[in-house]
Amino acid sequence: MSTQRDHLIGLLLGAEEDWPTAFEAIAGRLGVLRTPDGTEHRIATERVTIEPFNLRDKARQDLCIDRLAYWYYHPREWLKKAALMDDVYLLNSPFTFQSMEKHSAYCALLRLGMKVPDTVLVPYKHPVDNARWAYTSSKYNQQFDLDAIAETMGYPLFMKPFDGGGWRGVSKVRDSAELNRSYDESGEMLMHLQESIDFDVFARALTIGPETMVMKFRPDEPMHERYAVAHDFLSPAVGAETITISQTVNAFFRWEFNSCEMLVKGDQVYPIDYANACPDVAVTSLHYYFPWAMTALAKWSAFCVVTDRVAKTQVDTGPWFAIADDPALDYAAKLAAYQRLADEHFETERYQEFCATSLAHVDEMVFDYICSTEFKTMLTSTIHQTYPPHEWERFEAHFGGLMRMWIDDTARRHRGG
Ligand SMILES: Nc1ncnc2c1ncn2[C@@H]1O[C@H](COP(=O)(O)OP(=O)(O)O)[C@@H](O)[C@H]1O
Ligand SMILES: [Mg+2]
Repeated sequence: MSTQRDHLIGLLLGAEEDWPTAFEAIAGRLGVLRTPDGTEHRIATERVTIEPFNLRDKARQDLCIDRLAYWYYHPREWLKKAALMDDVYLLNSPFTFQSMEKHSAYCALLRLGMKVPDTVLVPYKHPVDNARWAYTSSKYNQQFDLDAIAETMGYPLFMKPFDGGGWRGVSKVRDSAELNRSYDESGEMLMHLQESIDFDVFARALTIGPETMVMKFRPDEPMHERYAVAHDFLSPAVGAETITISQTVNAFFRWEFNSCEMLVKGDQVYPIDYANACPDVAVTSLHYYFPWAMTALAKWSAFCVVTDRVAKTQVDTGPWFAIADDPALDYAAKLAAYQRLADEHFETERYQEFCATSLAHVDEMVFDYICSTEFKTMLTSTIHQTYPPHEWERFEAHFGGLMRMWIDDTARRHRGG
């Protein structure tokens, strides 16, 4: 008789209903997954609730997809307990996402030799309230000339919070007046001043485990227009570089579910924002790419629980810095070496084999789900929750059209066309 195993995936959610509904529907249709040793695996999902927990309570989940810990302490601490006490696999681990925000990610990629734009961290305009600050400040706070720093870096510049997130407090400054206004308004936010890249293309990559989708992003458009449906908009070499940069960031920091923003000018790739603990996967943002994201999330979660992948919650800089600091390696050689480390970290080969054997039915199953009335109902209800009634018809046509385009393209691909 074959062995049977049950796995539970927990969803720690905030206000989102769209992608969780789709993910639950897809996970529910995975059916029995068979591994080569003859074991039969079943996967269930469950939304995690917030309640008192004893630190000795055993977490029932094998894996947890988290969308809350970035903002709230209670679920964050539950996740840490679940990881430390119960080996629950986390997308993402708050151990590194909390401690390694945008600023650390800039530093890490700089050390690895990536083309992070010139960046300066400026002291607080208004330091957070602390009774001892007056003394510390009068004794140690160096006077500095913000204008002189900006002149050296050259206008235009970006002034933005060191920890980033949702365009809060981001401004483009073109001259001294705008610079000083922006700094005055920063208040208690700690700010970076960053060289502005005059880019040709904005590439935004979503990475889930070893799967990366690089999308053409248009930051000046309204949310529903930001992700363009564009194939081959980067040269093969630049496309490969954007994937390596995205996977390097994630493998280095042990992040599993993250987006990476890169500005491309000619054949140069400049990473500018790549520490997003809670990347946007709303169906009204991703539309055409939404089925890809849900498939990757389902496949990667299934791989992790079925193969008992062991989480690495802490950063191991050694192998990365050995490559970074090797004077014999040029940029291209380093990228190739980082990609190998990333493949090793994410067990890319074993994952692909698992997809080809135990998950061979999933692409077709997701296709059927996207064609179903169940998906259409979810999309319509999301549109109704997101937009005012007078815009419903327009957006139903807009997103309906994009999903039909995905269905047509995918059907053609399945037919081998
Ligand atoms: N160095 C830069 N050069 C050009 N544009 C930039 C630069 N930094 C930020 N931007 C623009 O500002 C937006 C927000 O900045 P970002 O660093 O992504 O902050 P957030 O963490 O809030 O998303 C970017 O998506 C991009 O359009
Ligand atoms: Mg950003």
